Amino acid sequence: MKNVTCIEDLRVLHRRRVPRAFFDYADGGSYSEETLRANRADIEHIRLRQRVLVDVSSRSLATTILGQKVSAPFALAPIGLTGMQHGNGEILAAQAAEEAGIPYTLSTMSICSIEDVAEATTKPFWFQLYVIKDRGFSKDVLSRAAEAKCSALVLTVDLQVLGQRHRDIKNGMTVPPEIRLANIIDIGTKPAWIWGILKGKSKTFGNLAGHVKGMENVNSLAQWIQSQFDPALSWKDVEWIKNIWPGKLIIKGILDPEDAKMAVKLGADAIVVSNHGGRQLDGAPSTISALPGVAQAVGSDTEVLFDGGIRTGADLVRALALGARACLIGRAYVYGLGAGGRAGVSKAIEILKNELSVTMALTGTNRVADIGPNIIVGGETKKKPTRKRKG
Ligand code: GLV
Repeated sequence: MKNVTCIEDLRVLHRRRVPRAFFDYADGGSYSEETLRANRADIEHIRLRQRVLVDVSSRSLATTILGQKVSAPFALAPIGLTGMQHGNGEILAAQAAEEAGIPYTLSTMSICSIEDVAEATTKPFWFQLYVIKDRGFSKDVLSRAAEAKCSALVLTVDLQVLGQRHRDIKNGMTVPPEIRLANIIDIGTKPAWIWGILKGKSKTFGNLAGHVKGMENVNSLAQWIQSQFDPALSWKDVEWIKNIWPGKLIIKGILDPEDAKMAVKLGADAIVVSNHGGRQLDGAPSTISALPGVAQAVGSDTEVLFDGGIRTGADLVRALALGARACLIGRAYVYGLGAGGRAGVSKAIEILKNELSVTMALTGTNRVADIGPNIIVGGETKKKPTRKRKG
């Protein structure tokens, strides 16, 4: 880890240490991966204003998200199968986030369960939910999350049907997973990964195993998941969730101002401007290009979070300047996890924090709240929308 200086270094190590099927699952996008590439290309395109001779000796990265104090304006995003990138992956990532003072989001499709993560951490984490056909399961898993004192629910709304990921099919990362000679040979060359997985608490979908009737093994669970995508999902289901979930509600997967307005109307505490990391609608706009329009449409009572393509501290600044209160970091931390477990996640967080601090200094910014359109070239005349803080 000594020679790791940036997130891309972690990505290279992740690719080397983790079986290809799992690396590709995290790294890839849907169909031609146009939107996946656009997320990066468009964010890289934004130029920051270099400012000099501003006293930046009292910089602070600290801010709040939904009233919660955080050491930096980002949280770890929900990622399915994190525990297959490294044994106990969800526990290790949650612990690294807790140590760093930022929120961790556990995916419904995690390997370690809600209870496993709660037992291994001391502070509340966030829980991500897919509303699936089996509403009984959704209700049950929400009460488990509430019992585990999860402080916010991240409701993913952009996965009614699955965008096809060519890489996953080619690698046999289908549901159920295919046992192929190429995969066996590949896994055989990754002994440290195997050892970590064998030592891990869970080797199946931890939130589902034992909670979905008649689903004893990973293959039947995987088939069940496949049959549970719900094309009939609608805003009515959001109202239902809002009524049964006692904590903060974050709606993730908003890319259109009309949908943003609807989320606000239904009482979302926050939305996440997201195209699911380029994994769903290929051809959708990059999140950074959609962000200003969505931020504009959202009133002052709903916080705007952002994900998609964040690999550097400068990217965090770009997203905040264009209207995000904070970002969710997905692949950037998963690369760290695959590269080196908990230490790798801590490294990813540290890299982003250091880069953010330097970017703030060189743009003449002391406080996260001061990051606005005026630090972007061409954005000098635009005013940052003023937002009331909730809670
Ligand atoms: C699940 O959310 C995925 O993108 O694979």
